[in-house]
Amino acid sequence: CMTTAARAENGHQLWLRKGKANPVTIVCQGSSPILKNAVKELEAGWLGEPGSKLILSVGRDKRLKGDGFMLDSRGIHASTDKGILYGVYDLLRRQKTGESAKSVVSNPAYEYRLLNHWDNLDGSVERGYAGRSIFWRGDKDLAVTQNDRVLWQEYARACASVGINASVLNNVNASPRILDPEYLKRVKAIADILRPYGIKTFLSVNFSSPVRLGGLKTSDPLDKDVIRWWKVKTEEIYKLIPDFGGFLVKANSEGQPGPQDFGRTHADGANMMADVLKPYRGIVMWRAFVYSSQEKDRARQAYNEFMPLDGAFRDNVIIQVKNGPIDFQPREPFSPLFGAMKKTAVMPELQITQEYLGHSYQLAFLAPMWEECLKSDTYQEGKGSTVARCTDGSIFKYPYTAIAGVANTGLDLNWCGHPFAQANWYAFGRQAWDHTLTSEQIADEWTKLTFYNPDVAYGKSEKHGDWERGFLKPVKEMMLESREAVVNYSMPLGFHHIFSADDHYGPGPWFGPKSVRPDWTSVYYHQADTNGVGFNRTRSGSNAVSQYHEPLASQLNDVQTCPEKYLLWFHHLPWDFKLKSGKTLWDEICFHYDHGIQQVRGFQKTWDLTEPYVDKQRFLQVQNLLMRQTLDAQVWKDGCILYFQQFSRRPVPYDLERPV
Ligand code: GCU
Repeated sequence: CMTTAARAENGHQLWLRKGKANPVTIVCQGSSPILKNAVKELEAGWLGEPGSKLILSVGRDKRLKGDGFMLDSRGIHASTDKGILYGVYDLLRRQKTGESAKSVVSNPAYEYRLLNHWDNLDGSVERGYAGRSIFWRGDKDLAVTQNDRVLWQEYARACASVGINASVLNNVNASPRILDPEYLKRVKAIADILRPYGIKTFLSVNFSSPVRLGGLKTSDPLDKDVIRWWKVKTEEIYKLIPDFGGFLVKANSEGQPGPQDFGRTHADGANMMADVLKPYRGIVMWRAFVYSSQEKDRARQAYNEFMPLDGAFRDNVIIQVKNGPIDFQPREPFSPLFGAMKKTAVMPELQITQEYLGHSYQLAFLAPMWEECLKSDTYQEGKGSTVARCTDGSIFKYPYTAIAGVANTGLDLNWCGHPFAQANWYAFGRQAWDHTLTSEQIADEWTKLTFYNPDVAYGKSEKHGDWERGFLKPVKEMMLESREAVVNYSMPLGFHHIFSADDHYGPGPWFGPKSVRPDWTSVYYHQADTNGVGFNRTRSGSNAVSQYHEPLASQLNDVQTCPEKYLLWFHHLPWDFKLKSGKTLWDEICFHYDHGIQQVRGFQKTWDLTEPYVDKQRFLQVQNLLMRQTLDAQVWKDGCILYFQQFSRRPVPYDLERPV
């Protein structure tokens, strides 16, 4: 039976589990707080030869970019102190996972690698499934405690260990109160703790703060008093936090205020803030998550609204675009805004918290989903113009590049709710640093760091071979299959947004009351009737395909060449349409739902066999969660098949009629 402390240890330490370290001598040329942390980490985690001598040196080198680093047998070299810290974490990771550190040059793909916390000031977390906020507890509890400091430091360390270097501390649905002096004091306290781990602090701001907080009559971005208000506020922030990063803004989206309320454009609003931040080298991340009930196809709205503004934004504005054109669904084609604008920097926004992938009840490793998006070809400047290359500055040079992930952290003992949800925080950081990594490699690293004996360098323990066979291999396979399983049992073949209303957890394809906006109902997205199913976004439908470059646009437009995984996203098809397998669409839908359940049943079997290799607490927790996931999958399958059957008017294929 484990003690509470031991329980906390296993989950709470994430992929940074403490073990015994060997003695090491470190020669470091500086003593900044970041370098001190670097030295501390090396001393606490060195698993190399006992008594080795390592040199940490800071200086220019043409092979290095930004906070990149080089590792060799002498030690670590970087052009910045942050680079040294990242080099230390990389070196320790290599020791713990058995990767060579003999000759490494590693540079970050994006300059800013941010977590977006959707944390409300009252301590709740929007779409958060891991307990309450680690930053906020409400108006009456703003004092900073020692517990807060410890927690923020652990958080900062975890972020830095995977290269995350920026954090937006509050929800994009921002309360104006975040800019109140009382709150800014707490923001400063957080920033002071994050800084020695190389993390810059950002805030989400509410566009009508001048009225709601400042008492002005308008928040019109071209109004002199409004501009002055933002200037004074920004000065106040930088006095407290000299390296403050800037603002994240959700404007004219889902009821949030914005420049359009005053007849101004997104560019007018973003530029006003950008000008105010410019003297401090601050940036504006302006979200493109917009849709309106007038646009007949929600997937087209962001592109339509932002493309005409290409070139109108200041160079310290970045447009923040969700990976898919609708909203973080288990599978979406990439947003056509990637690879569209040429004179405006665009950054991807990924969702680490599993809003649409089973919250923290379901095991879904998201690296494959993000890899699929980042490696998708937009064809902007010909073949090879991947989403990653369109956003990291390799195709068009931008002064700032960035990538954001909506965080899945909370006060839960293990930070993320599901033990495997930690892997998504890890994966986001790794992919933001290096988008050429494969999901397989990330799963491999995370599993070793999180579950292997932390006392010994990888491969040196007696039972190493058993562990690889009995744990590493099957667990990795399970992780790599898990996102596809969620797609199969919830939204296969291009289905999307058929959730139960509001909570975005279980199935609800039947949701379609007349009283709400059509694009807030499921029936809008699947368009099922007795003739067929799917959203026609081809040239004969909403023509969303035309927002993509050729040859992709034509490929998606043609039902014969459209990848089947996006079929019902782009096409409305008869129920007996023949798929590549030779099965009808209806049968294939049924098979996908069923296959999803079989996959999760397989995960249960896999996990049951890992018992000898994992502590009881994590073993039982994951076992229980997988049991629930199978039931969830069953509910999805039964709910969706029964619902769609009223339109398809066809029997469920015979081979599915067996007990699961
Ligand atoms: C989704 C999510 C909201 C969130 C919004 C956003 O719609 O359900 O909770 O506020 O995205 O990204 O702004």
